[in-house]
Amino acid sequence: MARFSEEQIEEVRQRSDIVDIIGSYVKLKRSGSGYVGLCPFHNEKTPSFSVNPARQMYKCFGCGVGGNVITFVMEYENYSFPEAMQHLAERAGISLPEKEMTAEQKRQESLRTILLEINTKAARYYYARLKSPQGKTGFDYLKERGLSDETILHFGLGYAGQGGDELYRYLRQQGYNDSVLKESGLFKIEERGCYDKFWNRVMFPIMDISNHVIGFGGRVMGDAKPKYLNSPETKLFDKSRNLFGLNYARQGNRKNLILCEGYMDVIALHQAGFTNAVASLGTAFTEQQASLLKRYTDEVLLTYDSDGAGRKAALRAIPILRNAGLSGRIVNLEPYKDPDEFIKALGDAEFEKRLGDAQNSFFFEIEELRRGYDMSDPEQKTRYYHEIAKKLLIFQDKVQRDNYLEAVAAKYDIRRDDLRDLVIRYSNRMPEGYRKEDRQERERKRNQKEEEKGISYSYRLLLSWLIEDASLFRQIRERISPEDFMEENYRIVAEMLYGQLEAGELVPAKIINYFQDVEGQKLAAQMFQTDYRTKMGREEKEKALNELVVRIKEYSIDYRIRNLTNVEELQNLILEKKRWQTPQNLHISLKDG
Ligand code: GTP
Ligand code: MN
Repeated sequence: MARFSEEQIEEVRQRSDIVDIIGSYVKLKRSGSGYVGLCPFHNEKTPSFSVNPARQMYKCFGCGVGGNVITFVMEYENYSFPEAMQHLAERAGISLPEKEMTAEQKRQESLRTILLEINTKAARYYYARLKSPQGKTGFDYLKERGLSDETILHFGLGYAGQGGDELYRYLRQQGYNDSVLKESGLFKIEERGCYDKFWNRVMFPIMDISNHVIGFGGRVMGDAKPKYLNSPETKLFDKSRNLFGLNYARQGNRKNLILCEGYMDVIALHQAGFTNAVASLGTAFTEQQASLLKRYTDEVLLTYDSDGAGRKAALRAIPILRNAGLSGRIVNLEPYKDPDEFIKALGDAEFEKRLGDAQNSFFFEIEELRRGYDMSDPEQKTRYYHEIAKKLLIFQDKVQRDNYLEAVAAKYDIRRDDLRDLVIRYSNRMPEGYRKEDRQERERKRNQKEEEKGISYSYRLLLSWLIEDASLFRQIRERISPEDFMEENYRIVAEMLYGQLEAGELVPAKIINYFQDVEGQKLAAQMFQTDYRTKMGREEKEKALNELVVRIKEYSIDYRIRNLTNVEELQNLILEKKRWQTPQNLHISLKDG
């Protein structure tokens, strides 16, 4: 199936203790027989991410991710399965001779790996072009903008030529076919012909946190429009989940990260020694990007453009940072437009000073708000104060809110007690369900209800239940066989799980590795992580379990009826279904406790 044997995979998994590995990324606290921490895959302030050392699995009750140690590393580092294996093996001191892959195996490697290969080759191609005589315009442009040879190499900058289909022809010659080239987003593939998407632009490869090239930005060298052209979203490239420069910025151990708007800003900052700079990818800053940053820092310095659009963008980014538990500060770049121009004009020492003077994001918001009011008019001034009071409600921590209240009162010369009265008044008026957390929670509940209608949910519930309480296995096996799982992946997992239970060795973490692609693993991991309501009493539980078994059985019988070729069978199936609908004699009983 792939380049590692089952034994190799098991050895790596067993010698990589999940608490050790996850603990090196996430702060974990002991809780009962397991560990809990803040989930690295979504924004949260109270821990719902748990690690189970006995099962060697993790799960987040907030966002639903889960799996074993290998899937964790894949998800966290954006690694492919072989990369995660290699990484863990090195850590554990296991040497992993890779099997020589046959041509057939190569073809079977997932599309993702091939797309990564194409992007890497494209980046090398663009770089070589930049350094060749034909790339002189591009090279001169970058030099003109003050970049050194080392910086150009470090960021792998390149040049897309004028030929129209140079890269296309190069990659065809390397053996890639049109359908995968199309998926890469680097080409226009049409009946009339195939062309490169990027012409006559300097190229910025966009890398994920593990230095994979996942897409490109290309800039014109003059004033033509559009100034920047970016790769479209592909299987590899999700703009909302990546940040330009983070692969380098994560390595430094500065106490904060600098968030800017442009590729050139990041590059200029890194060149000037501010290697903690990153940029969102030509789109608005997202929640996912915030939780990515939260992995590496608690404080973000915003260096958006100092024009109106930049300030607006900052106002949108601030609540996103706040919700991710990041404190934000806004850097004033006046009179320059962006960090690139600032550094060129005033140098790094001056920039360092500006970082030190960066303004607390709450005060920035209050100041921006003030622009809309005329402070010489008592009416407007009053309304402004009311707005401040409402805004203070975003702080749910009482101590924090009080501290801000005091600071604001002092700064704007408002009587502290008056402001506090206003805040209390608004806080009483705030309708229930107004807060974002409430909305998210409602949304989550609704999605869960939807989900519970599907048969796969029943499958997951039964599998999770079996893992939690293996003593039920004998009774369940008599009623439900793996063939009753009518979806293939579930059937495979059920077969493996039944096999383990029969052999008396339950290792769900091992089953997950049967699937070597991310999608399959996610699916398998979820199969074992469905909450059955542990708080139910015995009788209630027993009833729920029996209903579940009947539901799965009925579905399986209905499925067979729908796909029947032999009419004589119909009678039998109908009888069998009847039998399940009057289930007294099929009843599963739970032990006390
Ligand atoms: P330089 O002019 O090269 O210094 O770029 P800049 O970073 O100062 O440009 P700007 O502030 O105009 O844009 C910031 C970021 O927005 C860029 O790095 C791009 O990611 C994105 N961007 C700018 N212009 C365009 C455009 O025309 N199309 C798209 N898709 N993105 C753009
Ligand atoms: Mn600029």
